[in-house]
Amino acid sequence: MFSSDDRIRKEEEKLKESQKVFGYVFDNSTLLNIYRFFHNGYLDRFEFPIASGKESIVFAASKGDRFFAVKIYKVTASNFKNIREYASSRWGIGKISSKRKLMNEWAFREFENLKNAKEAGVTVPKPIKVYGNVIQMQYIGTKSRPALQIKDIEPSDKIVEQIINDIRNLFLKGKLVHGDISEYNFLYHRGKAYMIDIAQAITTDDPYSLILLKRDVTNIIRFLNKFGYSLNTDLVMKYVKGEADAFR
Ligand SMILES: Nc1ncnc2c1ncn2[C@@H]1O[C@H](COP(=O)(O)OP(=O)(O)O)[C@@H](O)[C@H]1O
Ligand SMILES: [Mg+2]
Repeated sequence: MFSSDDRIRKEEEKLKESQKVFGYVFDNSTLLNIYRFFHNGYLDRFEFPIASGKESIVFAASKGDRFFAVKIYKVTASNFKNIREYASSRWGIGKISSKRKLMNEWAFREFENLKNAKEAGVTVPKPIKVYGNVIQMQYIGTKSRPALQIKDIEPSDKIVEQIINDIRNLFLKGKLVHGDISEYNFLYHRGKAYMIDIAQAITTDDPYSLILLKRDVTNIIRFLNKFGYSLNTDLVMKYVKGEADAFR
């Protein structure tokens, strides 16, 4: 049992943590972008922080009683140099020297890729709106708890089917390769796996697309095969590229 002193201390620690997070992330341009979501009626409150990584921070936020996920690309990202190199080699936009502009571009790519993936029939959070470096999308989870990454569940046959088919649909219909597929970038919710974190996706006409596709497929198979599946990389690759009718 917690005494009430313990509980108050815990609450204070939680509050301090979130203040630290806010202070670190919210430079003026980010604050302005967040303000636009509120001012234009997309959101009316932040609920709780979900995750904080090197490049981004994700919150649950709400409008009335509907929850949304808000992903904010950090303008203060420590790996800016890597992202800039990526952007100049992949998109030919080496001219962007401002972190702010580059993070806006990154967020915009994620928004567009989510839209294309959704249209291709891939299970992704539905994108709602992007302002600068801030994206609003469908929230995956319940009001008390965000969805788990699939690394924390035991994938069923149905989930395996769905994941492989989503990688396939993204490739064949969406003309995209995710490029960072792993058990961290799928969320499990109500029997479905949602593909997330898709800003870095590249188009299938990129000379590296098949290399990245193979890396994606290898990564996810390595995870799935831990649960007694015996998926074969070559066959799954064929299936994903539309050169085979089944992957097992
Ligand atoms: N739409 C969403 N609904 C609920 N949680 C989400 C959503 N999008 C991201 N998250 C949570 O935030 C974490 C980080 O998001 P992600 O897009 O993978 O960014 P990063 O680039 O930091 O890995 C995810 O692992 C997941 O826990
Ligand atoms: Mg991620």
